[in-house]
Amino acid sequence: MILRSLRSQLLVWLLAPLAVVAALDAWVAHHGGVTTATLVHERLLLGSARTIAEQIGYSEGKFVISIPPAAIEMLDTGNQDHVYYRIDDPDGHLLAGYADLALPPRSIESEAWSGFDATMRGQPIRVVAFAQPVSGEAAGRPVSIEVGQTLAGRNILAREIWRHSVREQFMMLLLVGGLLVLGLRGGLKPLIALRDRMQRRTPFSLDAIDVGSVPSELQPMVAAFNDYASRLTRHARQHSRFIADASHQLRTPLAVLNIEIAFALRQDDPAIIQEVLRAIRGSVQSNIRLINQLLSFTEAEADFAPPSRREPITLCPVVCTVIEELASLAQAKSIDLGFEATDPSVRVMAGEHLIHMLASNLIDNALRYTQREGVVTVKVDTAPDGGVLLQVIDNGPGIPERERERVFERFYRVRGSDCDGCGLGLSIVREVANTCDARIELQGTSDQGGLTVSVHFPAGEDVLRVVDLRSPTELSAPYPRTGAAAT
Ligand SMILES: Nc1ncnc2c1ncn2[C@@H]1O[C@H](COP(=O)(O)OP(=O)(O)OP(=O)(O)O)[C@@H](O)[C@H]1O
Ligand SMILES: [Mg+2]
Repeated sequence: MILRSLRSQLLVWLLAPLAVVAALDAWVAHHGGVTTATLVHERLLLGSARTIAEQIGYSEGKFVISIPPAAIEMLDTGNQDHVYYRIDDPDGHLLAGYADLALPPRSIESEAWSGFDATMRGQPIRVVAFAQPVSGEAAGRPVSIEVGQTLAGRNILAREIWRHSVREQFMMLLLVGGLLVLGLRGGLKPLIALRDRMQRRTPFSLDAIDVGSVPSELQPMVAAFNDYASRLTRHARQHSRFIADASHQLRTPLAVLNIEIAFALRQDDPAIIQEVLRAIRGSVQSNIRLINQLLSFTEAEADFAPPSRREPITLCPVVCTVIEELASLAQAKSIDLGFEATDPSVRVMAGEHLIHMLASNLIDNALRYTQREGVVTVKVDTAPDGGVLLQVIDNGPGIPERERERVFERFYRVRGSDCDGCGLGLSIVREVANTCDARIELQGTSDQGGLTVSVHFPAGEDVLRVVDLRSPTELSAPYPRTGAAAT
């Protein structure tokens, strides 16, 4: 059975050891009961033996014995116990009593006594032997008087003593249990108050709980909850802002599309309709790009490669794939697009599709914003600290220094840019970099302008260098440059 309530768990943990102690104590009490009852029994047997001894006389060279009835009656426990006695002269000859009553295991000094267990006629008995000198006997040697009795009375007494002690302990246990319940109720009050407070909150409330109002043991938990709630609030705010921004970004081009279609429908001239349809196609294409970028952004932001699912991937093949995909764009603008890698086998910890997303946005930007017949170089290198450096270098217009932080904001575009775009590319790059613990830096390529984007991936134990399936020469040699400048 799983105890869900903290109070019952504490009660069980406190009462269980107490019950074990009580059981141990009951066992000790049983032992004590037997010892006490035996002691009482022996005192009675000794009393009886002394009473008999007092009546033994010595006259005319013979011992005179009379057994007083009181000596036997005093042992009557009302439990039908059998009483046996035996009197021996100093030489060990039986004077009176039962000859088959066991003798003491050791000889007894004069006026001393000893108690021992024996068996008489198949029944266990307790015997007390007492040595008593008899007045008139010249040598003063003691006679031995033994009195024995079966154990029914003694056992009943031992059980009574034990029961009494167990009853007392049970009562104590009940009392302690009751007091513990009361104590726990008082002690757990702050926790229950916190539970009630949490239950009273509205379902979507993410308000912080006052840390000072809870006991110190709960403060770290409440602080962690507050931290979690504040991150959740921030995330929810960012999300709703993102949805609002995205809707706004989608609404404008769709409205333009609507106007274009309405205009086309009103035209009879096929040449004008053709022209409007071309414009509609352009609008649809930029809408498709916007939607793709939005999807990429949410994918990067949702952290599709959490640390547990990141794996070491070889960077160069992914970058080469992106270059191949964008080669047509480079050729259309006659841009010299090249790739250099000092060590083609370097690996980074990331998801492959994330790295593809990052490289594709950076190279796409470089190709879009660099003027015709420009130069774009993609470099993969090892960093001095053992990390991996991916650089996209162009000789285009660059980004003014004051804008370099803002361009990472969603939907932010540098004023005066004459290329189409939705302002999400660098936000996606930043999200991917955060996911991979990478650092991004924007710098001017030279005094004349240009932009160098450096992505620094951290060194990791699992980022091993492996031999890539492509031949080293194929990867380490500059990628065949495209465009007019290469030819
Ligand atoms: N290599 C570059 N050279 C010059 N300006 C750049 C470069 N890369 C980015 N920019 C500037 O930074 C801005 C933000 O770039 P970002 O990639 O985030 O958005 P975008 O290119 O406008 O749209 P998209 O989401 O379609 O890529 C761009 O509008 C552009 O002005
Ligand atoms: Mg872009």
